[in-house]
Amino acid sequence: MTGGFSPPPYPHDRLAALATTARGHDGGMVDLSVGMPNDPPSPRVVAALATSGAERGYPPSIGTPALRQAAAAWMARRFGVDVAPAAVAACIGTKELVVGLPHWLRLRRPDRDTVLYPAVSYPSYAMGAELAGCRPVPVPLDECWRLDLSAVAEEDAARALCLWSNTPGNPAGGLDDLAAVAGWARRRGIPVLSDECYADFTWDGPSRSILQSGSEGVVALHSLSKRANLAGLRAGFYAGDPELVAYLSEVRKHAGFMVPGPVQAAAVVALDDDAHAAAQAQRYRIRLERARVILSQALDVAVAAPGGGIYLWVPAPGGDAWAFAERLATDAGCLVAPGDFYGPAGAGHVRLAMVVPEDRLELVARRLAG
Ligand SMILES: Cc1ncc(COP(=O)(O)O)c(C=O)c1O
Repeated sequence: MTGGFSPPPYPHDRLAALATTARGHDGGMVDLSVGMPNDPPSPRVVAALATSGAERGYPPSIGTPALRQAAAAWMARRFGVDVAPAAVAACIGTKELVVGLPHWLRLRRPDRDTVLYPAVSYPSYAMGAELAGCRPVPVPLDECWRLDLSAVAEEDAARALCLWSNTPGNPAGGLDDLAAVAGWARRRGIPVLSDECYADFTWDGPSRSILQSGSEGVVALHSLSKRANLAGLRAGFYAGDPELVAYLSEVRKHAGFMVPGPVQAAAVVALDDDAHAAAQAQRYRIRLERARVILSQALDVAVAAPGGGIYLWVPAPGGDAWAFAERLATDAGCLVAPGDFYGPAGAGHVRLAMVVPEDRLELVARRLAG
């Protein structure tokens, strides 16, 4: 024992025993535990990978002009915002950026040591704080799973290096009032990191971006993993405050972060293809509704429709998420994620990712009925 950092068990590795139970069902496991895209990417994107001619040279760390232009054009179409391509930079999928940001921001502001993040959220916000030697401080959510910034202590705000928001939210599907989030943080001089990787899957109203309330002090993060079923490609970008984007992209250039050239070329095709994303959104929407009906009827639990995202966030009967997950694995061969993966405040729920075709959801329905 050195007393130094010891990585905790990776959340999904804790599901091994439940997965064995679920796999024992005739017809196999229905795995709803991970937000792993299973539907096909566009063949045009795959073709672009093979034909870019970008293998030989080093790719620009910040992103090719074509990629930054395509990202800016997509944001203009999707959100009606005018972002200069110079205020856009590439990342290798968004998880590495999410986890790395506190470290790089702290190098710039060593006087600040606190990362504020949604109390029920994607675990990498807290992990990035921890890996940077910062204090992860969860911000409570309201009854609609939105950030409740009135609950942040002013002492924590004064020490905050950054504030994470995630709209639509993983796991609960909440939609923050991003203008209010930006306003709160600007009044306190706290950069907002707005993870918007599910923006194409917004069900209540139009897609939102923090950049709709201006770019000062805010950075939006976007990924092609979910929009275009390209989690294996590792392609994303960030955009916003020109000074923050310039700082981050310079640090990342020194550190050797580069999206491979062929991936950058394919990402341009994926960003341009709104029809493919719309078809994927329709699939998720149909599955969310069907799974909601199946669970509500078979288990007598109240399942709310999410405001956005690709997950159902289901209250566990009696508030015991692990017991509920075990029941679903045993009775329905269905693997789900217990809510404590997303923070202690999530412990009374389970998360179901709508990443399987409808016939697999019908199999779950039959098993539950039988
Ligand atoms: C909220 C959120 N942010 C970021 C990511 C990272 O996605 P990627 O690294 O594939 O861009 C995920 C992946 O599930 C996510 O749910």
